[in-house]
Amino acid sequence: MINSNNTDYIYSANFDDGHNIVSPNNSASVPNSSPDEFSESDKSFMSHALALARLGMGWTSPNPMVGAVIVKNSQIIGEGYHHRCGMLHAEREAIADAKAKGNEPLLKGATMFVTLEPCCHTGRTPPCTEAVIEAGIGRVVVASADVDDRVAGNGIQALRNAGIQVDVGLFDDENRRLNSIFYFYKQHKRPYIVLKAAMTLDGKIATSEMDSSWISNEQSRSIVHELRGRLKAVAVGKNTVIYDKPRLNCRSDTPLLQNKPVDKIIFAEQNDVPTDSFASDGGRILFADRKKISSPDDFISFCMEHEIDSVLVEGGSGVYTWFLQNDLADRIILFYRPSFMGSDGLNVVGGLGVTKIHQLMNFHIHSVKQVGDNIMVD
Ligand SMILES: NC(=O)c1ccc[n+]([C@@H]2O[C@H](COP(=O)([O-])OP(=O)(O)OC[C@H]3O[C@@H](n4cnc5c(N)ncnc54)[C@H](OP(=O)(O)O)[C@@H]3O)[C@@H](O)[C@H]2O)c1
Repeated sequence: MINSNNTDYIYSANFDDGHNIVSPNNSASVPNSSPDEFSESDKSFMSHALALARLGMGWTSPNPMVGAVIVKNSQIIGEGYHHRCGMLHAEREAIADAKAKGNEPLLKGATMFVTLEPCCHTGRTPPCTEAVIEAGIGRVVVASADVDDRVAGNGIQALRNAGIQVDVGLFDDENRRLNSIFYFYKQHKRPYIVLKAAMTLDGKIATSEMDSSWISNEQSRSIVHELRGRLKAVAVGKNTVIYDKPRLNCRSDTPLLQNKPVDKIIFAEQNDVPTDSFASDGGRILFADRKKISSPDDFISFCMEHEIDSVLVEGGSGVYTWFLQNDLADRIILFYRPSFMGSDGLNVVGGLGVTKIHQLMNFHIHSVKQVGDNIMVD
């Protein structure tokens, strides 16, 4: 379910496409070229670059997934993708790949297909525009312009200033869908926040003895692991850590997402919760205690400070309530088990202070599907 306030976004959730969430519809900083300018072989090479980009899924945050292919005389002479944040960008990988394959002499005048506008600033790595110019590439085909304030058209302009032909917009929509979290984070300057909960038909997430393992079935739980793989961090409350002793890692069946580090945001004082159940998966353990986080802005600043572009809020009730009270849920995914727990169970959400129907927060239902004997409402 999508927060109704996100009306400026095209909804593009698609579980076959890596849990893509939302896709901006009008963010291009550079006008796209006419579709007629792209040949069938251009399309085929850009499709390959997009497939390469996808190999970075879950690992590149807060950077986007990017793939690059270098072509000369209709043959691929080098290719690469951005593996993870801090590592080489796709363009430099592709150039290095061409050199490693003995194709350096072919780089001059070659065409590079890259899924995102090359960067022109020094961040964790030097500007890619310099590498492309130095390599002597003659034409660059870009799927999408960047929305990072430091690039946003300047990378394309730098290449054009160097006499390189740059064509923009081939498979722009596909790339934006693939990198929907990146675009959301850069444009809204806050993380994309997904709440997920497993509950009975009467909205109970745990028994009176705080037992909740397992309300949802194995298939539903495997979807949650996919989400942990796709999003940067999970967030849980103090009681959930104490009662559930969660590992909070990504145990996805998808090979690319296996062992992906998951940052753990714990709504508690550091000394109030045991952390020994957490998996040592390389994810950070961050404490969002009440002294640090007393408002939604505090939470957003906390995430921005730690470069967390997306958060999966996994409960419990107290934490769900806080996110809803503060209008911090962009998307909600609920798994229903066909059972009733009764009034002694724990409500998924506590009091929201609603006294009139018009005060209800509304969400759009994107999909309802059966997952084994569970119902998933997204
Ligand atoms: N079925 C499911 O999907 C699911 C998922 C997760 C959890 N659960 C179950 O839910 C139960 C726990 O839920 P719960 O509501 O008791 O606890 P919780 O949401 O896990 O934790 C709430 C506690 O976190 C601390 N906290 C710190 N900052 C907070 C903030 N900004 N907002 C809210 N809480 C904050 C508070 O402790 P202080 O007041 O001491 O500061 C609060 O009492 C467990 O039984 C667990 O098994 C079920």
